[in-house]
Amino acid sequence: MTARLIDGKAVAAELRRAIAARVAGLGFRPGLRVVRVGEDPASGVYVRNKDKAAQEAGFDSATIHLPAETTEAALLAVVAGLNEDPSVDGILVQLPLPPQIRAEAVISAVAPEKDADGFHPLNAGRLASGQPGLVPCTPKGVMHLLRAADCVLPGARAVVLGRSNIVGRPMAQLLLAADCTVTIVHSRTRDLPAECRRAEILVAAVGRPAMVQGDWVAEGATVIDVGINRLPSGRLVGDVAFGPASERAAAITPVPGGVGPMTIACLLENTLEAAIARRG
Ligand code: GUN
Repeated sequence: MTARLIDGKAVAAELRRAIAARVAGLGFRPGLRVVRVGEDPASGVYVRNKDKAAQEAGFDSATIHLPAETTEAALLAVVAGLNEDPSVDGILVQLPLPPQIRAEAVISAVAPEKDADGFHPLNAGRLASGQPGLVPCTPKGVMHLLRAADCVLPGARAVVLGRSNIVGRPMAQLLLAADCTVTIVHSRTRDLPAECRRAEILVAAVGRPAMVQGDWVAEGATVIDVGINRLPSGRLVGDVAFGPASERAAAITPVPGGVGPMTIACLLENTLEAAIARRG
């Protein structure tokens, strides 16, 4: 089998168009503030892309760039100010943070109703208990892609490779909420290839270049590659060995151009949802 490509760029562009149309009809501009601390170059690219996409969709978006030596207390004060600012609907603090700042403390300080990343423990708990709330952008984007690819979810055997709070865990919760039979596998799992081969839907989110080999993929599976890994040569590759995997999969996301563009579109979707929930 040669896999069909799941075109994240196209799905994301369509979602962004739909969001822009809804924003244009609101009568106000949803406010997004992206906070970046320090000079991590990859974060710089991500933050610029988020800000640009938000502005293009009609949001009132701005980046707050703080120096690398910012203290945790100073960052918490910035977050508190954004929590109280009525013009701000969505707050995102870009990770990773410098070592003197505890990410958990900052994530927990964002007002849950403005938590555009869906990382606050209250939103994580809502997701885990099946209640409405703000959902992390990357796994939310994966669900959009699965639906755009006409993937049948109820009863499907889904395997999530990775257990991070940003992707793996919320991904498993979303697939479970969509009635998949979900397995989470990770670095301590015995016989990872065999577990992955059982998947009708395989979501790889480990951050290891080409870890998922062709023979880890079942014939006819749908493969979603969340990884974005930069090789020493500068080339971007996913967590899945794309060529061999696409000979067995029925459908697969490319890297770049798969999940990546969906994350930004879902950040806009979350900010819009937060704005509507807060302002009615
Ligand atoms: N760093 C890498 N991915 C993300 C994300 O989705 N949100 C934030 N805030 N930081 C990140």
